Amino acid sequence: MDPKTPSDSFTEMTELVLPQHTNAIGTAFGGVIMSWIDICCSIAAMRHCGRVSVTARVDALEFRAPIKVGDVVRLTARLNAAFTSSMEIGVLVEREDARTGERTLCANARATFVNIGEDGRPCPVPPLLAETEEDQRLAAEATERRSERRSA
Ligand SMILES: CC(C)(COP(=O)(O)OP(=O)(O)OC[C@H]1O[C@@H](n2cnc3c(N)ncnc32)[C@H](O)[C@@H]1OP(=O)(O)O)[C@@H](O)C(=O)NCCC(=O)NCCS
Repeated sequence: MDPKTPSDSFTEMTELVLPQHTNAIGTAFGGVIMSWIDICCSIAAMRHCGRVSVTARVDALEFRAPIKVGDVVRLTARLNAAFTSSMEIGVLVEREDARTGERTLCANARATFVNIGEDGRPCPVPPLLAETEEDQRLAAEATERRSERRSA
């Protein structure tokens, strides 16, 4: 399988927070944001593997600032690392001021997706080609987290 870079699968998604996405105080439900996170990561995983992958794990999900009805929300997902059949994907959720374009980080998470073959079982993913120092740092950190999980 040919290696792919993080930019090959980088995914940006834009959503508008409507009343049906919010709670009684007009801020977005966490579950709605989590669903958008899952979709954004799933597209990045699909772009890397060229087929459907499933969510195996979500780590380090933090909601840092509220997102209100009427806000434009930008989600970005990028592959941190590709292993045998799994990938770690980092996702950022930002609120965007439609007038100024200013962005505020509102949530972030890391997800592990597993590539699924025709037989419904995990199957190999293309290697991730780290091009920049940042790519290398994120891949090394993801590898360390995976090793810690496996030895726990
Ligand atoms: C994810 C899933 C396919 C893994 O199947 P499995 O039989 O446990 O597969 P394996 O043990 O061979 O592991 C396959 C890979 O998944 C990784 N993996 C499995 N469970 C994991 C977990 N909880 N966290 C992180 N990685 C996990 C393994 O580390 C392995 O990675 P590698 O191939 O890169 O080394 C299976 O657990 C599953 O189908 N889960 C449900 C997925 C789903 O429905 N998601 C939507 C949720 S609503």
